[in-house]
Amino acid sequence: MDQGRRSPELVRKQPTSVPALRRRPAWAALERHYQTVKDVHLRQLFAEDRKRGDRLAIEAAGIYLDYSKNRITDQTLTLLLRLAEESGLRDRIDAMFRGDNINVSENRAVLHVALRAPRDASIIHDGRNVVPDVHAVLDKMAGFTHRLRSGAWKGHTGKRIRHVINIGIGGSDLGPVMAYEALRHYSERAMTFRFVSNVDGTDFAEAVRDLDPAETLFIVSSKTFTTLETMTNARTARDWLLAGLNGEADAIASHFVAVSTNASEVAKFGIDTANMFGFWDWVGGRYSMDSAIGLSTMVAIGPDGFRDMLNGFHEMDEHFRSAPFERNLPVLMGLLAIWYNNFFGAQTVAVLPYEQYLKRFPAYLQQLTMESNGKHVTGDGITVDYDTGPIYWGEPGTNGQHSFYQLIHQGTRLIPCDFIAFAHSLNPLGRHHDMLLANVFAQTEALAFGKTAEQVEAEGTPDWRVPHRLFAGNRPSNTLLPDKLTPEALGKLVALYEHSVFTQGMIWQVDSYDQWGVELGKALAQQIIPQLEDPTEPELKHDSSTNALIRRYRKLKAS
Ligand code: F6P
Repeated sequence: MDQGRRSPELVRKQPTSVPALRRRPAWAALERHYQTVKDVHLRQLFAEDRKRGDRLAIEAAGIYLDYSKNRITDQTLTLLLRLAEESGLRDRIDAMFRGDNINVSENRAVLHVALRAPRDASIIHDGRNVVPDVHAVLDKMAGFTHRLRSGAWKGHTGKRIRHVINIGIGGSDLGPVMAYEALRHYSERAMTFRFVSNVDGTDFAEAVRDLDPAETLFIVSSKTFTTLETMTNARTARDWLLAGLNGEADAIASHFVAVSTNASEVAKFGIDTANMFGFWDWVGGRYSMDSAIGLSTMVAIGPDGFRDMLNGFHEMDEHFRSAPFERNLPVLMGLLAIWYNNFFGAQTVAVLPYEQYLKRFPAYLQQLTMESNGKHVTGDGITVDYDTGPIYWGEPGTNGQHSFYQLIHQGTRLIPCDFIAFAHSLNPLGRHHDMLLANVFAQTEALAFGKTAEQVEAEGTPDWRVPHRLFAGNRPSNTLLPDKLTPEALGKLVALYEHSVFTQGMIWQVDSYDQWGVELGKALAQQIIPQLEDPTEPELKHDSSTNALIRRYRKLKAS
């Protein structure tokens, strides 16, 4: 924008300094290097190095990553790794594990790694080893889980609890729902598990429509216990339960438990704090599925399964903390994401799990990645002069192939893809799994190498149709190929993405652990709710569009 046309407000708000990233020598070298490789085709890279597919692949913490189908040379990797070093990645990793307040805008430590530390580990926060606190909560969760699954915990009328509904939103929903779906194979099939998040009443109504309140337990999951959606759904759940149990208020105790950091709000809601499972302000919502927020996961798969999942997380944590960067899965994936985002200008990343149980994984990753790195200022509050977090999206394969893959193959945008598949199916059925995996390999091959005009012509295609049938290729992808989807493998996969997000955010110098961007809409909604409910015509002071929409809704509602 022309400086002379800026409003005084914008001019005044311009930062007086610029972030360091673009001034790093490795960044400048990457910019120059990009000019030399941007048009190099993967066909050429593979032709020049017959072993590329073996060489650019690593296996660590039980996860195999093939990153050979990326538009990189050895020099690209050298420069990206140098960028990580120049950005102080090693120090920042140590700072996180040490419990430093790396969430600068909220002045908080970021210690989700402590949630999966083994019992004998020591992680000091504010002069206190937090690991025993973590395990005390895990033990309490396990005790509750045993009572619930064995039938020792009874509902108010003496009936056994058969249905568990987690009420939460954001990190208090997406992790639990993703983990439940991912680990459904290992879940207690005699119980049903449902998840209510949306303030749209349909979500609650559909979740309970076929359930008996006497057999239903609600887990109200909210770090703050003040979130509009969750508290509204929790109150509706309380009304539904009481209506089904003759209004007996003491029924709440056996049908509601809470997961929160806010004991006083839990008590105010009417849940006995003895039935509250706590966590801490050093656990971010989107990093909390392995805290007490995972209570529904533990009830579904049992305490042993949950501990296996934590062990998987921990193994990836240790890999991230100790492996050299050139053999470090999260670091490599994070650096490749930077390469496409900042040098090729790719705006999105597609996450494509070829595993039906991971159908909610892309949705989970959206919060993890976009709430973490969707930032426009550095930790010091300086406006960035480069792009930060890309848009993550995806669907399980092979469904996506019959929908949006057309654009990935032949559209005008560059969309780096992460393919995730497992060597073993949890439901081996005839030839299904070979077919599924054949599709993964076929897609990555087609994306990378495409089909030339000569190949299309050689098939007897008329000239006029050749452009339509041509595949340019050179579309990059990673392929993750772990052995089997187990609780442990899920923990590793989630931790892999968590630390990749850390790597990216750290290089962009943003605070990956705050989420101020969600506040404005929340505050405005709180102003608008009474304006929609006011029986008299309220005075509206919004813009003309918002005012008109509110008036129209009020009129339609009354008609
Ligand atoms: O609105 C965003 C957010 O704060 C997320 O970061 C969080 O996971 C979600 O809301 C739910 O918050 P809570 O667990 O406090 O209800």
